[in-house]
Amino acid sequence: MHREDVMRIMSLYDFPRYYDLAFSFRDTHHETQVFDECFRRFSKISVRRVLELGSGTSPHLEAWEKRGIEYVGLDTSRVMLGYARKRARNLGMIATFLKDDMKNFHLTRPVDFAYTMLGSLFVKTTSDLRSHFRSVARALNPRGLYFLDWCVNFQWKEAAPVQHWTVRKEKVRIRMKFESEVLSRVGQMVRNTLTAGVKRCWQTTVPRVGGGCSNCLSSRVPSARRRSRQV
Ligand SMILES: C[S@@+](CC[C@H](N)C(=O)[O-])C[C@H]1O[C@@H](n2cnc3c(N)ncnc32)[C@H](O)[C@@H]1O
Repeated sequence: MHREDVMRIMSLYDFPRYYDLAFSFRDTHHETQVFDECFRRFSKISVRRVLELGSGTSPHLEAWEKRGIEYVGLDTSRVMLGYARKRARNLGMIATFLKDDMKNFHLTRPVDFAYTMLGSLFVKTTSDLRSHFRSVARALNPRGLYFLDWCVNFQWKEAAPVQHWTVRKEKVRIRMKFESEVLSRVGQMVRNTLTAGVKRCWQTTVPRVGGGCSNCLSSRVPSARRRSRQV
């Protein structure tokens, strides 16, 4: 059967499988090579334990497992954490998953490397940003590194162009739209909105709302993000 199911959902982050499919174009192997290169070039300590902030589906788990590195994922989403925990269990690796807010958190054991991917720096104010950096500093061993991906935007004054992409995989077609809106130039504040139209190719248990059009998984990235360049 080939039909479109319809649902209205607040956040793509409630659907980790769709999130993974939507971002399956990523080359996580290459991304991990970039981490390796950073360790080689900049880390003054050997990296045995890492922390991912806004960890989501924890896309680099396999790579860490292969390297014998212990992983800590921190996220506010119970659903994302549950999904990633299951993947770690299947890999039989040592991993810890914490439901916490990156703005202010404490680890019981420090890490050698912390990282935030895909611009997932969810802070709204300078005081939140400072609190975030304090938390990361607390969490790191002395001379540990903090890696920020796409969190420092040097062209924040103009909104980034709208991006569209489509993924067809595992009997699902996902049409993605990424929009960026500058909320305050003075405050260097932007709001990013990710919308996913999901079409599945067989009968599912997903609740139908009306008929005939695409699912809409909208992840209005909740916090407008203040760019770290500011401090
Ligand atoms: C774009 S996803 C990134 C996931 C993953 N790091 C990756 O590379 O695919 C952002 C994640 O940040 C989480 N998140 C949002 N606000 C957060 C906060 N204040 N503290 C911790 N995690 C947060 C969301 O639940 C979501 O799983």
